[in-house]
Amino acid sequence: MSGGAAGRSWVLHGPALLRGSLRVPGDKSISHRALLLGAIAHGVTEIRGLLRSEDCLATLGAIRALGVEVFEESGDLLRVHGNGPEGLRESETVLDVGNSGTTLRLLAGLLAGQPCFSVLTGDASLCRRPMRRIVDPLRAMGATLLGREDDSFPPLAIRGRDLTGIAWTSPVASAQVKSAILLAGLQARGETSVTESIASRDHTERMLTAFGVTPRRAGNRVAISGGSRLDAARLTVPGDLSSAAFFLVAGAARPRGELRIEEVGVNPTRTGILDTLAEMGAQVAVERSREEGGEPVADLAVAGARLRGVRIVAERIPRLIDEIPVLAVAAALAEGETVIEGAGELRVKEVDRLTAVQEEMGRLGAAVSVTGDCLRIQGGGRLRGAVVSSRGDHRMAMSLAIAALFAEGETTIRDVACVETSFPGFARQLSVLAPDCGLREVTDDV
Ligand code: S3P
Repeated sequence: MSGGAAGRSWVLHGPALLRGSLRVPGDKSISHRALLLGAIAHGVTEIRGLLRSEDCLATLGAIRALGVEVFEESGDLLRVHGNGPEGLRESETVLDVGNSGTTLRLLAGLLAGQPCFSVLTGDASLCRRPMRRIVDPLRAMGATLLGREDDSFPPLAIRGRDLTGIAWTSPVASAQVKSAILLAGLQARGETSVTESIASRDHTERMLTAFGVTPRRAGNRVAISGGSRLDAARLTVPGDLSSAAFFLVAGAARPRGELRIEEVGVNPTRTGILDTLAEMGAQVAVERSREEGGEPVADLAVAGARLRGVRIVAERIPRLIDEIPVLAVAAALAEGETVIEGAGELRVKEVDRLTAVQEEMGRLGAAVSVTGDCLRIQGGGRLRGAVVSSRGDHRMAMSLAIAALFAEGETTIRDVACVETSFPGFARQLSVLAPDCGLREVTDDV
């Protein structure tokens, strides 16, 4: 797996202006769900714009290993031949999903209701990520799950069973947990519901509707009836706002910066980054808003400004959970202090992102401190080029590249192969939009 593998670095220098217009690759969360729901639907699901990154290809590989035929058609079209949940067959091998937490957790929910034995594993980073959050509810529904360290970490072994619906109150606001339970719930007797304290992204719920099954929603509770039949859908995956976020920050933080990104998903459970950049003083315009396959899509235009620090409260965190590393870059460039509260979930992402942001941004001269679950960034200082590391985390690699555009002198970012997990082509797009940064990729001396 190249996700997390060392060996390649980016060398670039600042200050460099980023401007122009672009499209970003398909949404990662939506791509995973399109493949997984297509795999258990009846008929041929057509997917356009699927993100072909390592994480989503891990999901594709897994459904193929479970006996689902997937055909790559010409152009951008992919066809998934589903035969309902009964159409899945036991995989002959361990399902290795690389770096992808979404694949592992959602697949665990799907396989919990299948009459088969499955073993799910991943790379070193994924094997350190917490799984009790899905093991506990799936067990409560009747499945048998085992994992390392008292069932806390992958590899996970799953013996699927006849499941019974549950009413689960999730201790974490996590779309991966919610979706795993809903996928199990589709195969369970009776109703399954999930209640969260703060609503997480709702792509699963929206996509279920596109497949003909509409979950019942009330506040932060979502419920589904077991045994509901999914019918194949035609889907177009919008651009990933989490990928767009890197460029948005670069455009927003430069007073003369101007940037336009077309066809981006703007699901309100994901748009915390847009609200926050606007609060920081950037002009963010959401244009040509429309809906595709139940997901809001728009073009985004950003005009840069001298940003100011803000306070981000815990209730907003799920709406920008993946954007915090790049928001920390915006905060370092802003006037005044930014406080990000309730960010503890960042400790259990691909790496401990609170520590990674503090230490790696610190090497570039940013004043970042972490107290408990709270990240504080004292803005206004000058960033200077340095040697930093992604630590094998794609979002860290790309956030550091954006920081490097604003840093005086040369920055080397080690361990950038991980960017392939979510954003193939990022470096190429950055080079086009910010040609003065002179980005080049080099092989690390080992
Ligand atoms: C995702 C949900 C989020 C997010 C991840 C993708 C999803 O994780 O960080 O990148 O597709 O459901 P959690 O649900 O664990 O917060």
